[in-house]
Parts: sequence; C-alpha cells; structure tokens
Amino acid sequence: MNLAIIGAQWGDEGKGKIVDLLAPHFDIVTRYQGGHNAGHTVIIRRDGIDHKFVLHLIPSGITHPGKICVVGNGVVVDPRALLAEIDELRGRGIEVNHHNLLASNRAHLILPYHVALDRAIEASRGGNAVGTTMRGIGPAYEDKMARRGLRAGDLTDPGTLAEKLAHNAKQANRLLTMLGGEPIDVRQLVEDGERWCELLAPHIVDTTYFLNRTAREGKAILLEGAQATMLDIDHGTYPFVTSSNSSVGGACTGAGIPPSMIDCTIGVIKAYTTRVGGGPFPTELNDALGEHLRTSGGEYGASTGRPRRTGWFDAVIARYAVMVNGLDALALTKLDVLDELDEIKICVAYRINGKEIDLVPYDANQMASAEPVYETISGWQEKTVGISKFEDLPERAQKYINRLSELSGAPFAFISTGAERNETIIAKDVLSRCGLDLVL
Ligand code: IMP
Repeated sequence: MNLAIIGAQWGDEGKGKIVDLLAPHFDIVTRYQGGHNAGHTVIIRRDGIDHKFVLHLIPSGITHPGKICVVGNGVVVDPRALLAEIDELRGRGIEVNHHNLLASNRAHLILPYHVALDRAIEASRGGNAVGTTMRGIGPAYEDKMARRGLRAGDLTDPGTLAEKLAHNAKQANRLLTMLGGEPIDVRQLVEDGERWCELLAPHIVDTTYFLNRTAREGKAILLEGAQATMLDIDHGTYPFVTSSNSSVGGACTGAGIPPSMIDCTIGVIKAYTTRVGGGPFPTELNDALGEHLRTSGGEYGASTGRPRRTGWFDAVIARYAVMVNGLDALALTKLDVLDELDEIKICVAYRINGKEIDLVPYDANQMASAEPVYETISGWQEKTVGISKFEDLPERAQKYINRLSELSGAPFAFISTGAERNETIIAKDVLSRCGLDLVL
C-alpha cells in the first residue's frame, strides 16, 4: 500500500502532522519535489514534554525509529541545508545515518549561486515579485531544465565535482553580476564541495531502484508532498507558484515510481485558507478577522517566519485540488482556529466580470479580480481543541465539515483538532474505503 499526501491549497495545511500520524504504518517515507522551502512541523510528546521539530528537507518520518526516509530525485537539495538539518536532528537525539536517510543520486543540487540568483531575480521583479522563500529553489530547477545542473550523484565523484562546480559557478557569476548581485567565491565553493562529498556521499544512492524494488517486496511507501496544488508549476496560480510539480503527478516523476503504484491519495486542507508570498487569493481577509485567523492559527511561515495571508475556506480551489490530484479523501486541519467566530463563510464560486463561475481561471490576473461568492453559516463558538470523536464536535462544526466535504467532492479521513497526534478525529470507514485499514 502506497499513499501520497498532497497539499490542497497554497501550502502550510499541516501535512507534517498527517504524515507523522501515518508514518508508523509505512516502511518508507519519501519526499519527491521541492526543497528546503518547505517547513513541516511535527510535535512529539516525550516524557510529558512537547518537542517541536520543523523539517525542511528530510521527510517527516525521520522522527520515527526504524523508518527509511528518502529524498527523491525530484527534490532539489542544498547540501548545506541537508547537513544542517542532519546535525540539528542528531543534536536533539534523533538517529540519522546512511541506513535511514537516502538521497537520490538524480536529485539536483541547490548551490550558493542559486540562492544569490533567487535574491537578485526577485529584486529585479519589483512589484511583481513572487515572494519566494529565497532558498534558491527556482534557479536550481531552471538549471535542471536547462540540462546544466549538478546532481547529488556528482557528490560521489569528487574527481570531477570541482571542475563542474567551478564551471557552473563562473557562468552563474556572470549572470549575477548582470543582475547587480554579488558574485560568489568560486574557490570557497570548490572547497565546500569536497566537504559535502565526504559527509553526504554515504547517503546518496539510486533511490528509483530502491523504491521500486522495496515496493515490489511488499514494503509500504508514504509519499510526502511539499507545498501544494495551487503552488504547482503547471496547475497553480502561475507565475505565483513554486518551481516543481507539487500535485500528485510530481510523486511519480519525483520518486521514479509508476502511477499504478500509488494506491491512495489524501489531500490536506485547512478549515480556512492561507498563502505566503504574492499572487491571487480571492477569499483573503485584510481586516481584523484576517488578523484573528493569523494570530490564533499561528500563521507565520515555518521556513521564513513571514506572516501568512489569511482568508475563508475556498471550495473552488478545494474542488480543483480534488480533481487534479484525484483525491480519495481529505484531512482537515486547524478546525479549532474557527472556534470563537460567530459567523463563518465558505466561498462556493467566483464572480469574474459579472459572471459566476465555479472553476479556477488559468490566468492569475483574472483570478485576482475574482469576487468570492459566499455561503454563510453560524459559528459554533465552543472549544473543539483535542476532540477525537466526530459526534463530540458541536453540531454546527459537524455541519460546517459536512458542507466542506460536499462542496469539495471528497470525504474527510482525518479532522485535526490540535497539534498533537491524539488530537485527531479519524474516519475509519473512509480510510478503509481507501484501502487503509490502519490501527491508529
Ligand atoms: P519558492 O518555492 O521559494 O520559489 O517560492 C515560490 C512561492 O511558493 C512563494 O510564494 C512562496 O511563498 C511559496 N512557497 C514555497 N514553499 C512554500 C511552503 O512550504 N509553504 C507555503 N508557501 C510556499
């Protein structure tokens, strides 16, 4: 049984918690796209104390002993970020070694000049900036597509690495200088490259063969998506997107497994909507209510600390995410953030140029001009934090959830009512229909 977990909005839906909850039931957890622009937060209770882990590049499964974590070929890997994350995890008592952390030799590298280029390119965009995480993601994927990138496999061949690094860095420095950026120190980069080879080479393998072989042997793979459908380079609000396929197609190309191997796909979706960075957001609330969602939801970027933009649940994008990914079920997160509200709105359609549509327009400008058409329901104004049975939720909260499911076109397999693992409502019947007969 192989399961893909996908973000159904603009990211930060709480995928880390859902992956963490499911990880014990899988043998392998693999990331397949994006890089350390992601920030997956996992809270683990040990000896009565909550420990917060924010994973950026390493799959969230790493906190579970005995699981193999794979950084797939579709991920872009910054060796500095990977080493820092390994060190941080080890420093906090998590075992990370070359048996439980494998990185694909086909994964492309993010190098310091990509980070410098990300900054310079964003600065040159002025008012049309994408609002990237400045981690070098876009420039690294550009090099991949232009067929000049360096790959993790190059770190297993120190003999030719220095030459490749120096060549690419000199080219990038020309571009950087043209854009008004500071060129990077090529000698330092080559020196760093030697160190990365030593430290990372043991983790670098052909993960495509590894994943296919182990799946055929009956091992279960959890595919951990980063970012989300609306940030997908093809299906998102282009150009205000990330540079990878963060919808389910990316799981095949980015892990090297066929579509027939993905048995189930679950989308993670917040009870309201957020996005970071620029781009259209029809249900955005630029008022005290938006601020309330931000404060009570702790809506600040896990990677960059940036305040997230906040707004009402958008069923138009939810339906789109269900369609594009073929979502079998949804996981609803952060319901409790709505607890105090007297009125809650759901966007059921957009009005664009006076016409009502229930589709996501392809053009970001058109989407930016969309006026949300709302359905309003009364709030439940009761605490839902920690509730673990659907029937124990206030009736109005149940009604809200049922309506979201109806409008989105998929049932809820999970409803998260808090950060901890046990603060979750699990719909066993839905999971069972997905082929997931888990004892959770
Ligand atoms: P990049 O991925 O750093 O190039 O950023 C492109 C866009 O994706 C920006 O709007 C970012 O804010 C957004 N983005 C990238 N990673 C995440 C994430 O993990 N959560 C939410 N937004 C993200």
